[in-house]
Amino acid sequence: MNNSFPREEGMDHSLSLLREGYMYIPNRKKSFASNIFETRLLGQSAICMSGEKAAELFYDEEKFMRNGVAPKRLQKTLFGEEGVQTLDDETHRHRKSMFMSLMTKGRLEVLHEITEVQWQLAAKKWEQVEQIILYDEAKEIMCRVACEWGGVSIKEEEFKEKAEQLAALFESPTALGPQHWKGRHARKQIEQWLGGLVKQVRDGSLNPPEGTALREISLHKDLEGKWLDEKVAAVEVANILRPIVAIAIYINFTALAIHHYPEQKEKLETAGAQYFQMFVQEVRRFYPFFPMAAAKVRKNFVWEGYSFKEGTLTLLDLYGTNHDAELWENPDVFNPYRFSGWDKSPFDFIPQGGGDYMMGHRCAGEFVTIEIMEVSLNYLVNHLTYQLPEQDLSYSLVSMPSIPKSGIIMKSVRVK
Ligand code: HEM
Repeated sequence: MNNSFPREEGMDHSLSLLREGYMYIPNRKKSFASNIFETRLLGQSAICMSGEKAAELFYDEEKFMRNGVAPKRLQKTLFGEEGVQTLDDETHRHRKSMFMSLMTKGRLEVLHEITEVQWQLAAKKWEQVEQIILYDEAKEIMCRVACEWGGVSIKEEEFKEKAEQLAALFESPTALGPQHWKGRHARKQIEQWLGGLVKQVRDGSLNPPEGTALREISLHKDLEGKWLDEKVAAVEVANILRPIVAIAIYINFTALAIHHYPEQKEKLETAGAQYFQMFVQEVRRFYPFFPMAAAKVRKNFVWEGYSFKEGTLTLLDLYGTNHDAELWENPDVFNPYRFSGWDKSPFDFIPQGGGDYMMGHRCAGEFVTIEIMEVSLNYLVNHLTYQLPEQDLSYSLVSMPSIPKSGIIMKSVRVK
């Protein structure tokens, strides 16, 4: 059977994507009454897909590839060039296994401790001031965590600047004008800084602890037994530091959930570790972060009657799949309990991509994210008291990434 894709007519819909953000695919999924449709984006034909079956297809490495997919504006800000995101096949698996070797149980325990200490130090400072903006503070906490855990030692007075530069990489990709150029400039500065550190590790003048990102990436050998190009190694170290700083966004949404659902706060105060885990999962499912993942068709194939043509840009709807009513009962209700019976499918809950960590492009830092979020949630609920004054706590489903508008202003923060 041959199916033709529901098609969005018109020359190009890149502007609609920017205007509708997280809802671009879900809106069309609804109007076409289809989990799959064809459109034109970035001057080319593109397929958009949503849902568990679509995710399973998207992560089939024989059917899709990544090289040459990320648009320049993302490479110049968010990702950098020639990083693990752009690789395929054996080269990808080899580089990815180096990333995954940084995420051992022991290293996650170290991360847990570092995160706890950084929350304690930050909270002591907050007791001395009238109010804080959680987003700004969380970026700095996360920058400290990222550097210490990643084996990158920096001077005390540099943390604020580095946190801002790393954040500019994920705050700028879809921005226009100065905000976007700030991101491009920050990428140059970050790569120059990290490239210098990689060089020092290689010439022996810097000796970060074993198992840290800076050490392992600097000394990683490719399939030909050679070190990565210095610039590429810098891109990969940034691929660890930048997303850890980005967890500040999830910390903001965690605080928002605690505020919007006070009954949850009561439960958390008495609940055990399992409820903390479910709460963190629900924050990652419920709130927007990455709207979609992109790949291109590796070679012609037919799936459920639809013909996929080699080279076609294909987008998987991450946000929409996490809110798919066929997969999640009352998807727009915040309910951590839904995770008590979750079957752990690698394709229905995909805030950080789906499929297999080693074989595919699923986020290398998902365990890191969960660990840091659990520590942060515990700190917010069990170790701090604070008030939220009148402020704009709304968040957009258009701006990417979405962050609560006020950044969450907290007054009278005290350690319990
Ligand atoms: C890839 C989301 C945190 C490292 C990805 C992908 C998504 C994602 C959607 C792409 C999946 C795909 O292309 O199919 C997130 C979110 C995070 C987060 C929402 C929350 C802040 C982290 C952290 C790290 C990390 C903390 C490292 C410590 C990576 C790497 C890749 C990746 C290296 C590329 C993997 C590959 O191409 O094989 N992430 N991530 N991420 N993430 Fe994350």
